[in-house]
Amino acid sequence: MTLESLTLFNFRNLANGAVSFSAGLNIVQGANGQGKTNLMEAIYLLGTTKPFRRSRPRELVADGEDACSLKGRVEKNGRGDDLFFSVAEGGVKRFGRGDEVQDLYDYIGALDTLAFTGEHLSIVRGGPEERRKFVDRGIVGIKPGYLKVLVDYRKAIRQKNRLLGDAGRGSTGNERGFLIELEAWNERLIDLGSRILMERAAHVNRLHALVREIHSGLFSDARPPVSMAMRTAIGDERSIDGEDAGSVRERLKQELDSASRRERERSVSLVGPHRDEIEFVYGGKPLRTFGSSGQQRGFLLAAKLGRAEIHREVSGGYPVFLFDDFESELDRGGRTGFLQYCRDRFQLFIALSAEELDMGAPWDRQKRFRIQQGRVSDLGGC
Ligand SMILES: Nc1ncnc2c1ncn2[C@@H]1O[C@H](COP(=O)(O)OP(=O)(O)OP(=O)(O)O)[C@@H](O)[C@H]1O
Ligand SMILES: [Mg+2]
Repeated sequence: MTLESLTLFNFRNLANGAVSFSAGLNIVQGANGQGKTNLMEAIYLLGTTKPFRRSRPRELVADGEDACSLKGRVEKNGRGDDLFFSVAEGGVKRFGRGDEVQDLYDYIGALDTLAFTGEHLSIVRGGPEERRKFVDRGIVGIKPGYLKVLVDYRKAIRQKNRLLGDAGRGSTGNERGFLIELEAWNERLIDLGSRILMERAAHVNRLHALVREIHSGLFSDARPPVSMAMRTAIGDERSIDGEDAGSVRERLKQELDSASRRERERSVSLVGPHRDEIEFVYGGKPLRTFGSSGQQRGFLLAAKLGRAEIHREVSGGYPVFLFDDFESELDRGGRTGFLQYCRDRFQLFIALSAEELDMGAPWDRQKRFRIQQGRVSDLGGC
């Protein structure tokens, strides 16, 4: 998958106009505050419809303007596609292909994108929800239909919690009606929850193997082995991956049944994949609390590259990869390892503020850009 060009209109501080990219390495250099992250974010938005940083759609629009838009020309398996993303007056977000506005379910996969930025370190440092989301996003990238399963599961959990809450306050009417409704929600949670557990277990299992391999290849400074593990209501990822659906459903049902009294006492749903823990382990210790900042970055990078590999295994192509603040996120050894890894694999965008930085041997296809006060200059290459 390649992003061939991007046309910007009223997007943050970036000047209006079109930029053509290399299918290989794209190096974007500029001093602080010139617009490098904004350019990376524009590509990321076109791919994911989500901004890098938590921001409202209207904040994407250049100061003093009412609306903004991005257009991208994408090449995938020899086919071209024109994509757009826009924020209209009032902050309404739209995206789609050609002239057709699409919803997220149809749009996913239009431009597969993976990004590494300091912001994403919350995946390592934050609570379990961040890691569940990381794994879920990886699965959605290869199976867009999984998004619907997640959304439906979340809805069902909300409904069940509401029912348990009403029961706790004694406002559900009769006991029999309550039990029938609870049973119906549990059925739904078993159906959706077992699918989530199986998808996550398979993904974590594969990712674990890839992260180990990629991490040891990326860093020449003999870092200790890394691993990834998932703890769920019904066991770890190895005990779920490869099991048949019927037995996963049955195991989840048993756990739900045995938690029913506790759930009722606490008026909240306690069992299911919304409680899964995904742990990143570094040299036998939790990365979240024991890892240095650089070790956390290195692991996260290996995890993202692992996700790119899974993407290729399943869909036949790599996503485009964005790396913001290149020189401050990785040390020299890490940078060299990373560039060697990416070479000839996927289209890469790198933002850096250093004027001179050793980027190793030039790629066959490579372009350089400079950004000054939002203006992107093409310094040549192919
Ligand atoms: N909606 C907007 N309208 C106009 N300017 C904006 C908007 N949003 C952000 N900016 C400005 O864009 C400028 C560039 O921001 P950006 O984060 O891209 O810089 P950068 O080149 O990545 O810098 P650094 O090297 O410090 O990370 C900043 O001055 C920021 O205030
Ligand atoms: Mg920046």
